Amino acid sequence: MDSSPRGLRDQQVVFQAVEGTELANPSRDSKLVQGEQMKSSYQPDAVMEYFDDLGEREWERMIRTPADEAGLYIHTHYLKKHISSNEKILEIGAGPGRFTQILAALDARVLVTDISSRQLNLNRKYSRTYGFDRAIIDWKQMDICDMSELDSESFDAVVAYGGVFSYVLDKKDIALSESIRVLKPGGIMLLSVMSLWGTAHGFLDAVISLAAEVNQRIIATGDITPATSPDRRGNFMHLFRAHELLGWLEKAGLIVLDRSAANCLSLTWNEELKVIRANAEKWDELLRMELEACAEDGCLNMGTHIIVAAQKPC
Ligand SMILES: C[S@@+](CC[C@H](N)C(=O)[O-])C[C@H]1O[C@@H](n2cnc3c(N)ncnc32)[C@H](O)[C@@H]1O
Repeated sequence: MDSSPRGLRDQQVVFQAVEGTELANPSRDSKLVQGEQMKSSYQPDAVMEYFDDLGEREWERMIRTPADEAGLYIHTHYLKKHISSNEKILEIGAGPGRFTQILAALDARVLVTDISSRQLNLNRKYSRTYGFDRAIIDWKQMDICDMSELDSESFDAVVAYGGVFSYVLDKKDIALSESIRVLKPGGIMLLSVMSLWGTAHGFLDAVISLAAEVNQRIIATGDITPATSPDRRGNFMHLFRAHELLGWLEKAGLIVLDRSAANCLSLTWNEELKVIRANAEKWDELLRMELEACAEDGCLNMGTHIIVAAQKPC
């Protein structure tokens, strides 16, 4: 599984289940035992390890299939719409730099951050190979849940594309308040998270192959964690519903400017889309339709990701 909901197929062992695990030494003091049981569902070391292991494959994530490319196009559209030349951008969970490259093309200045040192090294490598390192202020290994080394109100925009807010699970409020803290008043936050119904739409065969009770726990909570999926060993995440995501951002004080699915029309048509992809005129028309459709209320939940552009009040 890569970092997209396609990862439902993945059984890579990254870390052990937190809940339901037999304690190795039952005689340990009860406070410690209680502490372990109350352990956060977000395990940063495991996320780090997962993306370190994923390595180079992450660079291909948005160009593997025509539906991925449609997702890249829609994500890029909102960067172009909201980011201006010379703005100072914090990119969180930048990975190998697919969107860093686009931010550089927009003449922005980017502080590249990621929890994974391997992904940061890949970002360094690709930025030098493709010449977008000129736009990069620095590369910093950082967890979105602790950005205390960054000054408050110091960025024109925060970009967190590709699901960082899905990976932080029960720490998502901390991640959001940290992201808002570092934004200047009037600054823009661009984020995308994994979509619950988009996952079922795009990967129905894998979803339906899960045991019904597991599937129902995931749908009820949006969580793919040891609590909902005891047999799964890694790459845990929260899958969002659109109304949940928008309500959460608004409750935190952000003003939603744009919201969109990543790729609702193209998601399940990859084989057929190869023909359309080879015809420039047809492909442009598909992307035009995709952009319009993805922003419709009825389509918001139906892509792999839900994208939001939101503003911090002045
Ligand atoms: C799916 S990749 C997205 C990469 C890139 N933004 C893109 O959209 O192509 C997710 C990235 O987020 C990083 N990440 C996951 N959890 C994070 C956290 N808590 N803080 C910072 N980065 C995190 C991962 O290491 C990975 O590089």
